[in-house]
Amino acid sequence: MAEITLEKIVSLCKRRGFIFQSSEIYGGLNGAYDYGPLGVELKNNIRDFWWKEMTRLHDDIVGLDSSILMHPRVWEASGHVQNFSDPMVDCKQCKARFRSDQIDLAAPCPNCGTRDSFTEPRNFNLMFSTHIGAASDASSKIYLRPETAQGIYADFKNVVSSSRVKVPFGIAQVGKSFRNEITTKHFIFRSCEFEQMEMQWFCTPGTDEKWFAYWKEQRMAFYHKIGIRPSRLRWHQHGADELAFYAKDAYDIQYLFPMGWQELEGVHNRTDYDLSQHQSFSGKDMTYLDPVSGERYIPYVVETSAGLTRTVLMALSDAYEEETLEGGDVRTVLRFHPLIAPITVAVLPLVKKDGLAEVARELEKDLRDEFATFYDESGAIGRRYRRMDEIGTPYCVTVDYQSLEDKTVTLRHRDTMEQVRVSITDLVASIKGATASYTRGGSEA
Ligand code: GAP
Repeated sequence: MAEITLEKIVSLCKRRGFIFQSSEIYGGLNGAYDYGPLGVELKNNIRDFWWKEMTRLHDDIVGLDSSILMHPRVWEASGHVQNFSDPMVDCKQCKARFRSDQIDLAAPCPNCGTRDSFTEPRNFNLMFSTHIGAASDASSKIYLRPETAQGIYADFKNVVSSSRVKVPFGIAQVGKSFRNEITTKHFIFRSCEFEQMEMQWFCTPGTDEKWFAYWKEQRMAFYHKIGIRPSRLRWHQHGADELAFYAKDAYDIQYLFPMGWQELEGVHNRTDYDLSQHQSFSGKDMTYLDPVSGERYIPYVVETSAGLTRTVLMALSDAYEEETLEGGDVRTVLRFHPLIAPITVAVLPLVKKDGLAEVARELEKDLRDEFATFYDESGAIGRRYRRMDEIGTPYCVTVDYQSLEDKTVTLRHRDTMEQVRVSITDLVASIKGATASYTRGGSEA
């Protein structure tokens, strides 16, 4: 079995238009990435699936899209101004900067090899700051949000008073977050600009442990639903040294990335810490009056916090396979679940001539309402199939001479490469049926 490295995934992402380095024509910007034509579809599909799972399929979760720029007091209340930092050292020789907890300070500098060249460790705050308005003094300093969660807490009362939610309920949001990360190797795994999918579940104190267990189960099930191999997912409970000082309990879902087991999502019992902090820093009442019991309290929060861009890397890593075929040929295939694949159906005329292209084009247009489609008529059919395999298109529909006679086409399944003859009138139902019963095929299923 060929080894799947991050380099192979990075190379495919660039070659096929999933992900590019930001500002590449200027030499690139570290820690920032652009999602190309296929990458943006993959990312949007994961986001939309999450949104449906975490809002529409529940009667008690509502959505929010809060602003990236917030009042600077938010970040004092949340503890980010004080505590959101990594211990850093600089090499005095080459000026490279490292997290002091990630290198051996007694060893030579990993960048230039100089010995005894490190500065004393000092704390480096991960929040990006900027200024709002015309003045750029201390009074105009604001931050780019390092997590989406605080926007939810700050709007807690607005949501309660404007919608019909009752505790327990959740507020979900997806959006960009920014962290001035020093260690940005590993591609989009850890970037300075990234997207999060977070949901804050507000519940009565005392019920938090029950909800914590419920959300743990739900969140792991989510990854199974988008086709991630269960054998590459596991739980990691935060030990005393990892647990945020306010958290009662925290678990990470970890995935076996090409560089090893790494965090993908956190499920945290944040108690009433955040709302209490905002109550004391803003002076506004953050309590909730329970309409049934008549009790007034600050709800506890169970948070599910996933990285959207990190999930994109996981989906790519999990899908990537180099399969040796009979005869020794190797095909690169992305075995995306059809629910998240950037293109669901490619429509291909066997040849361009004799009216096949026209029929195929028409069919592709008819399928657009139902699926993300793609039309390709250039090159040998085998090469077109391979191109679709490499970008993870689960279904290829081929229009051939028989199609002109009996209005049937072939439906090729990416994982098995099996082709079945289907009547055009049954095509949508066949594809939907195959998606509903999809199980990953191939050597590493
Ligand atoms: N509100 C809680 C919170 O932000 P976190 O563990 O710091 O918790 C949650 O982040 C998730 O956000 C992580 O599990 C990861 O998927 C993603 N994430 C965090 N920092 C990231 C970065 N620099 N680049 C990409 N994703 C990141």
